[in-house]
Amino acid sequence: MPDRLRLGLIFGGRSVEHEVSVVTAEHVLAAADRDRFELVPIGVTKAGAWLLPEETKRQLAKPAPPFQKRLVSRSPLAESGPAGEVGRADLRPAIDALAGLDVVFPLVHGTYGEDGTLQGLLELAGLPYVGCGVAASALGMDKALMKAVFRDAGLPVAEHVVLRAPDGERALLAAARDVERRLGYPAFVKPANGGSSVGISKVSSREELAGAIVEAARCDRKLVIEKAVAGREVECAVLGNADAEASPVGEIRHRREFYDYEAKYLDARTEVIVPADLPAGTVERVQDLALRAFCAIDGAGMSRVDFFYCPDGSLVVDEINTIPGFTPGSMFPRLWQARGVNYAQLITRLVDLALARHKERPVV
Ligand SMILES: Nc1ncnc2c1ncn2[C@@H]1O[C@H](COP(=O)(O)OP(=O)(O)OP(=O)(O)O)[C@@H](O)[C@H]1O
Ligand SMILES: [Mg+2]
Repeated sequence: MPDRLRLGLIFGGRSVEHEVSVVTAEHVLAAADRDRFELVPIGVTKAGAWLLPEETKRQLAKPAPPFQKRLVSRSPLAESGPAGEVGRADLRPAIDALAGLDVVFPLVHGTYGEDGTLQGLLELAGLPYVGCGVAASALGMDKALMKAVFRDAGLPVAEHVVLRAPDGERALLAAARDVERRLGYPAFVKPANGGSSVGISKVSSREELAGAIVEAARCDRKLVIEKAVAGREVECAVLGNADAEASPVGEIRHRREFYDYEAKYLDARTEVIVPADLPAGTVERVQDLALRAFCAIDGAGMSRVDFFYCPDGSLVVDEINTIPGFTPGSMFPRLWQARGVNYAQLITRLVDLALARHKERPVV
C-alpha cells in the first residue's frame, strides 16, 4: 500500500510519566488504522536515548508485567538508564528515526515531550506533528506561566504564589511564612513543571508546607503554591485547530485526599464518569471556558482542560494538558467516544489536524 502515511509514534521519555506513555503507545499501535498508516514506533528510554523502530519493536515484544504493576515498576524501555537524569542524549538516532516519516504523534507526557522541547525538534525537522506547537506546549506545561496567561485571558484560576525553590533553612522558613500570610491553609504545593501529581502535596500547617516545598523542589526550581479549591473535578476535551470543538464534560471521582498518582493509575476505586451529572447550563460554561483556555495558549490539535466545580456553581480552571492521558480508558478518548468518535477515528482525526496545521504554517 504505497499511499500509507508513515506515522511515527514517539513515546516513553525522561519524565515521571514514562510508564504511562509506554502503555498508551501500545494502545495506539494496536488501534490506529493500518490502511491509512504505516506505524513506526520510536521509543525513548528513561535516560533520553532514542531507539530506532526495529529496536523499539524488540523492546516492546518483551514480556511485560500486567498494566498496573508496570506503572510502578519498570517499563520495557527502562533498562538503559536511571529515571530523571538529565544526561547528554545522542540525538543522531533521533534524527535517523525521524528520517522518512510523514507525520509524528508525540505520546510523551510531561518534561521533554509535552513541554515544547520535542515539538521544537519536530519543527526543526520540518515534520507535521499531532497536538500543540512549541509555545502552547511550554505554556501548558509550566503551571506558573499557564496561570499568568489564563488570568490575562480573564479565566478564573486559583489564588496562588510562584516562588523559586528556597536555598537553605532560613529561606525555606521565610518562604513558608510568606505563603502562609498570602494564602493560608489548606494549600497545594506543586513543582511548576511536573505531571501526574508527582511532587504535589496538600498542606495544612507550616511544618507540612515547609516539607512540601522541599519535596516539590526535588522536581523543579520553580514552585506554584495555590489556595485549595473545594470542588468536584470536571474535565473537558478540546479537539481541532482554529475551529476547535469542546467535548461533553466528564468527572473524576477519587477516594483520596486529592487526585494523586495513586488515585490516577492505581486506585481501582477512582471513577471516570462520562458525562458528568451537572445542572443545566454548567456544561456549556465548562465548554466555553475550555475553548477559551485552549485559545489562550494558542492550542492546536488537542488538549484536555481540567476544572473545579464549586458548590456555589462557580468554576475554577485547574490546568490544561496538551498531551492528555490517551489510553482508551482515559478521559480524553472517552469524552470523544461519548460524541461518537471512537479511538481509532480519534487517532486519524488528530493526524489529519496535524497535516492541516502544517500546511498552514508560514514558510519563512
Ligand atoms: N488548588 C487546588 N485545590 C484543590 N485541589 C487541587 C488544587 N490543585 C491541585 N489539586 C489536586 O491535585 C491534583 C493534581 O494537581 P494538578 O492537576 O495541578 O497537577 P498534575 O495533574 O500533576 O498536572 P498534569 O495534569 O500536568 O500531570 C488535582 O487533580 C486536584 O485533585
Ligand atoms: Mg491534573
